[in-house]
Amino acid sequence: MTRILKIGGSILTDKSRELVARPEEISRIAHEISTQPDDLVLVHGAGSFGHIPARKYCLSQEFSREGLRVTHNSVARLCELVVEALGQAGVESLPVHPLSCLQLHSGRIERFLLDPIKEMLKNGIIPVLHGDVAMDLARGAAIVSGDQLVTYLATALQAEVVAVGSNVDGVLVSGRPLPSISRKNLPEFENAIGGSAGVDVTGGMRGKLLELLDLADLGIESVIFNAGIEGNIARALNGETLGTRIRRSK
Ligand code: IPE
Repeated sequence: MTRILKIGGSILTDKSRELVARPEEISRIAHEISTQPDDLVLVHGAGSFGHIPARKYCLSQEFSREGLRVTHNSVARLCELVVEALGQAGVESLPVHPLSCLQLHSGRIERFLLDPIKEMLKNGIIPVLHGDVAMDLARGAAIVSGDQLVTYLATALQAEVVAVGSNVDGVLVSGRPLPSISRKNLPEFENAIGGSAGVDVTGGMRGKLLELLDLADLGIESVIFNAGIEGNIARALNGETLGTRIRRSK
Protein backbone atom coordinates (compact mmCIF):
# COMPACT_ATOMS: atom_id res chain seq x y z
CA MET A 1 0.00 0.00 0.00
CA THR A 2 1.90 3.05 -1.23
CA ARG A 3 1.31 6.34 0.58
CA ILE A 4 2.31 9.76 -0.63
CA LEU A 5 2.86 12.58 1.80
CA LYS A 6 3.57 16.14 0.76
CA ILE A 7 4.79 18.68 3.25
CA GLY A 8 4.38 22.26 2.07
CA GLY A 9 7.37 24.55 1.97
CA SER A 10 5.53 26.97 4.27
CA ILE A 11 5.99 24.46 7.12
CA LEU A 12 9.65 23.69 6.47
CA THR A 13 10.84 27.23 5.78
CA ASP A 14 10.07 30.82 6.53
CA LYS A 15 8.35 31.61 3.24
CA SER A 16 9.20 35.30 3.37
CA ARG A 17 12.96 34.92 3.93
CA GLU A 18 15.37 33.32 1.46
CA LEU A 19 17.24 30.22 2.65
CA VAL A 20 15.76 30.32 6.16
CA ALA A 21 14.72 26.81 7.21
CA ARG A 22 12.78 25.81 10.32
CA PRO A 23 15.02 23.09 11.77
CA GLU A 24 12.71 22.30 14.73
CA GLU A 25 9.76 21.76 12.42
CA ILE A 26 11.84 19.63 10.04
CA SER A 27 12.95 17.51 12.98
CA ARG A 28 9.40 17.18 14.40
CA ILE A 29 8.08 16.10 11.01
CA ALA A 30 10.91 13.59 10.60
CA HIS A 31 10.01 12.06 13.98
CA GLU A 32 6.32 11.84 13.07
CA ILE A 33 7.21 10.13 9.80
CA SER A 34 9.52 7.71 11.62
CA THR A 35 6.49 6.21 13.43
CA GLN A 36 5.23 4.75 10.12
CA PRO A 37 7.83 4.92 7.38
CA ASP A 38 6.77 1.89 5.30
CA ASP A 39 5.86 2.26 1.64
CA LEU A 40 6.04 6.00 1.84
CA VAL A 41 7.06 8.54 -0.77
CA LEU A 42 7.76 11.98 0.67
CA VAL A 43 7.45 15.11 -1.45
CA HIS A 44 8.31 18.46 0.03
CA GLY A 45 7.67 21.98 -1.14
CA ALA A 46 10.36 24.50 -1.87
CA GLY A 47 9.24 27.31 0.40
CA SER A 48 11.56 30.29 0.43
CA PHE A 49 14.38 28.05 -0.89
CA GLY A 50 12.56 27.87 -4.25
CA HIS A 51 9.97 30.60 -4.56
CA ILE A 52 12.30 33.50 -3.75
CA PRO A 53 15.08 32.65 -6.27
CA ALA A 54 12.44 31.61 -8.85
CA ARG A 55 10.80 35.01 -8.53
CA LYS A 56 14.14 36.85 -8.51
CA TYR A 57 15.12 35.28 -11.85
CA CYS A 58 11.51 35.46 -13.19
CA LEU A 59 11.68 31.73 -13.94
CA SER A 60 7.92 31.51 -14.58
CA GLN A 61 8.32 33.88 -17.56
CA GLU A 62 11.97 33.75 -18.62
CA PHE A 63 14.68 31.21 -19.31
CA SER A 64 17.74 31.83 -17.12
CA ARG A 65 20.62 29.39 -16.91
CA GLU A 66 21.92 31.11 -13.80
CA GLY A 67 18.44 31.16 -12.28
CA LEU A 68 18.08 27.42 -12.88
CA ARG A 69 21.37 26.67 -11.15
CA VAL A 70 20.72 28.92 -8.18
CA THR A 71 17.12 27.72 -7.69
CA HIS A 72 17.90 24.03 -8.08
CA ASN A 73 20.90 24.14 -5.75
CA SER A 74 18.82 25.96 -3.19
CA VAL A 75 15.91 23.45 -3.18
CA ALA A 76 18.41 20.58 -3.23
CA ARG A 77 19.90 22.02 -0.02
CA LEU A 78 16.49 21.99 1.64
CA CYS A 79 16.03 18.38 0.51
CA GLU A 80 19.35 17.50 2.10
CA LEU A 81 18.16 18.99 5.42
CA VAL A 82 15.02 16.83 5.25
CA VAL A 83 16.94 13.65 4.41
CA GLU A 84 19.42 14.33 7.23
CA ALA A 85 16.59 14.94 9.73
CA LEU A 86 14.94 11.65 8.73
CA GLY A 87 18.27 9.87 9.27
CA GLN A 88 18.56 11.44 12.74
CA ALA A 89 15.03 10.21 13.48
CA GLY A 90 16.11 6.68 12.56
CA VAL A 91 14.58 6.28 9.08
CA GLU A 92 16.56 5.97 5.90
CA SER A 93 15.64 8.09 2.91
CA LEU A 94 17.35 9.31 -0.25
CA PRO A 95 16.95 12.49 -2.29
CA VAL A 96 15.35 12.17 -5.74
CA HIS A 97 15.79 15.43 -7.61
CA PRO A 98 13.05 15.94 -10.23
CA LEU A 99 15.46 17.98 -12.41
CA SER A 100 17.52 14.84 -12.99
CA CYS A 101 14.78 12.28 -13.62
CA LEU A 102 11.86 13.94 -15.38
CA GLN A 103 11.07 15.96 -18.46
CA LEU A 104 8.35 18.57 -18.81
CA HIS A 105 6.34 19.71 -21.81
CA SER A 106 4.66 23.11 -21.39
CA GLY A 107 5.00 22.86 -17.63
CA ARG A 108 3.51 19.36 -17.33
CA ILE A 109 5.40 16.14 -16.60
CA GLU A 110 5.80 14.17 -19.81
CA ARG A 111 8.36 11.53 -18.80
CA PHE A 112 9.53 10.45 -15.37
CA LEU A 113 11.97 7.64 -14.59
CA LEU A 114 10.25 5.90 -11.70
CA ASP A 115 12.32 2.72 -11.45
CA PRO A 116 14.76 4.06 -8.83
CA ILE A 117 11.81 5.24 -6.69
CA LYS A 118 10.18 1.79 -6.89
CA GLU A 119 13.48 0.14 -6.02
CA MET A 120 13.95 2.39 -2.98
CA LEU A 121 10.45 1.49 -1.77
CA LYS A 122 11.20 -2.22 -2.19
CA ASN A 123 14.34 -1.77 -0.12
CA GLY A 124 12.79 0.11 2.77
CA ILE A 125 14.10 3.55 1.76
CA ILE A 126 11.86 6.64 1.61
CA PRO A 127 12.33 8.51 -1.68
CA VAL A 128 12.31 12.25 -0.96
CA LEU A 129 11.27 14.47 -3.88
CA HIS A 130 10.67 18.20 -3.94
CA GLY A 131 9.34 21.10 -5.98
CA ASP A 132 12.11 21.86 -8.48
CA VAL A 133 13.06 23.39 -11.79
CA ALA A 134 13.10 20.96 -14.72
CA MET A 135 13.89 20.98 -18.41
CA ASP A 136 10.88 21.59 -20.63
CA LEU A 137 10.65 20.58 -24.29
CA ALA A 138 8.52 23.61 -25.18
CA ARG A 139 10.04 26.31 -22.96
CA GLY A 140 13.60 25.26 -22.20
CA ALA A 141 12.82 24.95 -18.50
CA ALA A 142 9.93 25.42 -16.09
CA ILE A 143 9.00 24.93 -12.47
CA VAL A 144 7.50 21.64 -11.37
CA SER A 145 5.54 22.00 -8.13
CA GLY A 146 5.49 19.39 -5.41
CA ASP A 147 1.74 19.20 -5.97
CA GLN A 148 2.19 18.17 -9.60
CA LEU A 149 4.68 15.52 -8.44
CA VAL A 150 2.09 14.22 -5.96
CA THR A 151 -0.60 13.79 -8.62
CA TYR A 152 1.79 12.16 -11.06
CA LEU A 153 3.28 9.76 -8.50
CA ALA A 154 -0.08 8.90 -6.94
CA THR A 155 -1.40 7.86 -10.34
CA ALA A 156 1.73 6.04 -11.47
CA LEU A 157 2.19 4.17 -8.17
CA GLN A 158 -1.58 3.73 -7.57
CA ALA A 159 -1.24 5.23 -4.10
CA GLU A 160 -3.86 4.36 -1.51
CA VAL A 161 -3.20 7.31 0.77
CA VAL A 162 -2.42 10.80 -0.54
CA ALA A 163 -1.98 13.46 2.12
CA VAL A 164 -0.97 17.03 1.44
CA GLY A 165 0.18 18.94 4.50
CA SER A 166 -0.06 22.70 4.50
CA ASN A 167 0.17 25.43 7.16
CA VAL A 168 -3.62 25.90 7.23
CA ASP A 169 -6.44 23.55 8.28
CA GLY A 170 -7.46 22.58 4.73
CA VAL A 171 -9.25 24.41 1.94
CA LEU A 172 -10.50 27.48 3.78
CA VAL A 173 -13.71 29.33 2.99
CA SER A 174 -14.41 32.28 5.30
CA GLY A 175 -11.60 31.06 7.55
CA ARG A 176 -13.02 27.54 8.00
CA PRO A 177 -11.91 24.32 6.34
CA LEU A 178 -14.41 22.71 3.98
CA PRO A 179 -14.95 19.07 5.07
CA SER A 180 -14.79 18.02 1.42
CA ILE A 181 -14.77 19.39 -2.09
CA SER A 182 -15.17 17.88 -5.57
CA ARG A 183 -14.99 19.37 -9.04
CA LYS A 184 -18.78 19.50 -9.05
CA ASN A 185 -19.02 21.89 -6.09
CA LEU A 186 -15.85 23.86 -6.94
CA PRO A 187 -17.71 26.75 -8.68
CA GLU A 188 -19.60 27.41 -5.43
CA PHE A 189 -16.36 28.14 -3.55
CA GLU A 190 -13.86 29.06 -6.28
CA ASN A 191 -13.79 32.80 -5.63
CA ALA A 192 -13.31 32.33 -1.89
CA ILE A 193 -10.23 30.09 -2.25
CA GLY A 194 -7.04 32.10 -2.13
CA GLY A 195 -3.45 31.93 -3.25
CA SER A 196 -0.64 31.93 -0.70
CA ALA A 197 0.36 34.28 2.11
CA GLY A 198 4.08 34.29 1.19
CA VAL A 199 5.91 34.40 -2.13
CA ASP A 200 4.50 31.61 -4.31
CA VAL A 201 5.13 31.03 -8.00
CA THR A 202 3.07 27.83 -8.25
CA GLY A 203 -0.42 29.00 -7.34
CA GLY A 204 -0.88 28.54 -3.56
CA MET A 205 -4.00 26.73 -2.38
CA ARG A 206 -5.80 27.17 -5.71
CA GLY A 207 -2.98 25.49 -7.65
CA LYS A 208 -2.85 22.66 -5.11
CA LEU A 209 -6.58 22.09 -5.26
CA LEU A 210 -6.71 21.99 -9.07
CA GLU A 211 -3.97 19.32 -9.11
CA LEU A 212 -5.77 17.22 -6.51
CA LEU A 213 -9.16 17.54 -8.24
CA ASP A 214 -7.56 16.09 -11.38
CA LEU A 215 -6.28 13.22 -9.26
CA ALA A 216 -9.70 12.66 -7.63
CA ASP A 217 -11.29 12.44 -11.06
CA LEU A 218 -8.82 9.66 -11.86
CA GLY A 219 -10.22 7.83 -8.83
CA ILE A 220 -7.63 8.72 -6.17
CA GLU A 221 -8.97 10.88 -3.35
CA SER A 222 -6.69 12.89 -1.06
CA VAL A 223 -6.68 15.18 1.96
CA ILE A 224 -5.29 18.68 2.48
CA PHE A 225 -4.52 19.05 6.18
CA ASN A 226 -2.58 21.19 8.64
CA ALA A 227 0.88 19.60 9.02
CA GLY A 228 1.87 22.31 11.51
CA ILE A 229 -0.22 20.61 14.21
CA GLU A 230 1.60 17.83 16.02
CA GLY A 231 0.10 14.39 15.45
CA ASN A 232 -1.67 15.29 12.22
CA ILE A 233 0.96 13.75 9.96
CA ALA A 234 0.64 10.38 11.70
CA ARG A 235 -3.16 10.58 11.43
CA ALA A 236 -3.04 11.48 7.76
CA LEU A 237 -0.60 8.63 7.07
CA ASN A 238 -3.09 6.26 8.70
CA GLY A 239 -5.58 7.28 6.04
CA GLU A 240 -7.79 9.25 8.45
CA THR A 241 -9.86 12.04 6.96
CA LEU A 242 -8.77 15.32 8.44
CA GLY A 243 -8.75 18.81 7.00
CA THR A 244 -10.45 18.83 3.60
CA ARG A 245 -11.06 15.67 1.62
CA ILE A 246 -10.74 16.09 -2.14
CA ARG A 247 -13.45 13.83 -3.51
CA ARG A 248 -14.19 12.49 -6.95
CA SER A 249 -17.29 13.90 -8.64
CA LYS A 250 -19.97 11.24 -8.60
C1 IPE B 1 7.92 25.09 -5.97
O1 IPE B 1 7.51 23.94 -5.29
C2 IPE B 1 9.25 24.82 -6.66
C3 IPE B 1 10.05 26.04 -6.95
C4 IPE B 1 9.68 27.25 -6.71
C5 IPE B 1 11.37 25.82 -7.54
P1 IPE B 1 6.14 23.88 -4.44
O2 IPE B 1 5.09 24.70 -5.13
O3 IPE B 1 5.84 22.45 -4.24
O4 IPE B 1 6.55 24.55 -3.07
P2 IPE B 1 5.65 25.05 -1.85
O5 IPE B 1 5.03 23.89 -1.16
O6 IPE B 1 4.60 26.00 -2.43
O7 IPE B 1 6.65 25.77 -0.99
